[in-house]
Amino acid sequence: MAKAKTTAFFCKECGFESSKWYGQCPACKEWNTFVEEPIVKKTATKGVANIMSSQPSVLSQISTNDTDRTSTGIEELDRVLGGGIVEGSLVLVGGDPGIGKSTLLLQMCQKLSVMGKKVLYISGEESLKQIKLRAERIGEFNDNLLLLCETNLDMIEKALRDIKPEIVIIDSIQTMYREEIGSSPGSVTQVRESTAILMQLAKGLAISIFIVGHVTKEGIVAGPRVLEHMVDTVLYFEGDRNAAYRILRGVKNRFGSTNEIGVFEMRGSGLEEVKNPSEYMLSGRPLGASGSVVVCLLEGTRPLLVEIQALVCDSNFGMPRRTAAGTDYNRVNLLMAVLEKRVGMHLSGCDAYVNVAGGLKVNEPALDLGIVLAIVSSYKNREIDFQTIIFGEVGLAGEVRAVSQAQQRVTEAIKLGFKTCILPEVCLNNVLKTDKIKLIGVRNLSEAMNAIL
Ligand code: TYD
Ligand code: MG
Repeated sequence: MAKAKTTAFFCKECGFESSKWYGQCPACKEWNTFVEEPIVKKTATKGVANIMSSQPSVLSQISTNDTDRTSTGIEELDRVLGGGIVEGSLVLVGGDPGIGKSTLLLQMCQKLSVMGKKVLYISGEESLKQIKLRAERIGEFNDNLLLLCETNLDMIEKALRDIKPEIVIIDSIQTMYREEIGSSPGSVTQVRESTAILMQLAKGLAISIFIVGHVTKEGIVAGPRVLEHMVDTVLYFEGDRNAAYRILRGVKNRFGSTNEIGVFEMRGSGLEEVKNPSEYMLSGRPLGASGSVVVCLLEGTRPLLVEIQALVCDSNFGMPRRTAAGTDYNRVNLLMAVLEKRVGMHLSGCDAYVNVAGGLKVNEPALDLGIVLAIVSSYKNREIDFQTIIFGEVGLAGEVRAVSQAQQRVTEAIKLGFKTCILPEVCLNNVLKTDKIKLIGVRNLSEAMNAIL
């Protein structure tokens, strides 16, 4: 008789399960992500079922109130969560190691404990002493915050039932394990089973749980992607390790809009909220330099002004060098081809370097016109008035096309004292005329170039 299989293969990225090994995952198309792990017998998922009644209800008679949401005391975080923490929700905070996830959550714990909430911070990565050292940099804590160093989920479950906290932090999910499951902590099965248990506890005991998950492309631990569909809310914490600012982005939210961002700055005393990110991004801008342009992009519903810099110079080789930092390289090449063909600028013998200042990664069509005019400004070595802001999409025929939410972008520019705005002509209808800013509508690249030079 054939022996029953005791192991299966799992994709570390997306959790796809298969009875045989693949070089490329058939589900997410990532290479070399399959690992062999013991099969777990499905535990009956009772928790969620418990809190749901089998009687249908009339929608209009279900009561909700605002008090179901708790403010975290950190405005930028509240915004990304959709207005605060929802009772009984499971939130995943993902990000590269060292980006500041533990710091952010510990700061949240501090604010919550001061507000009188009972908070339990469970760490599987740091000792109590290490957490204390971090906490000392952040500020004053009170006795509502409890710390626990534990990785065994059965113990954690017991602690939750005994202590009955309102908010729990699990740092990180990759260190948690259940004994019944044979594989090591951080494996796909462990991460998935641990999250399922935490989900049951969150819904069953009405505790809001925050899970930290490290994103690792090539590492041995399972990526948080495996969990995305299980949790209520997924937040990613990103940023350039060399730059001080950090962006918290919502990618999934069952209780609010996604694509909201929160901006923070890493300081010596923890993370500081950046209330006015545009001002922050534009600080240190060179005045009177050619090739520098300010554009307005939208992050979710939030307008953000950033500086784009271009440097165009003669190429020494037959193959000109082009680089794009912070934006799409192919898009920059395409825009240069449009300039060459539609405006007749001879860029084929030039090196071109395009950079989004501040290390931000942006990819929005509204940026096109800014990139093009930065290149033109550098090529002609003529500066663009520093109080001018530019946005618009550029098409292959050299036309300037409409972008969404023009009014919001203009309002943000006015707020920061810009005097001229170059925008697609079709957007003029959507923008209120004011004497605070001069609006110049352009239909194509030639008109745009005439407007700035
Ligand atoms: P951390 O929260 O430990 O990252 P994660 O939990 O995402 O792995 O953040 C660690 C980094 O933050 C570390 O490089 C030091 C820096 N940091 C500061 O600059 N200031 C501070 O006050 C703190 C607590 C950390
Ligand atoms: Mg950490």
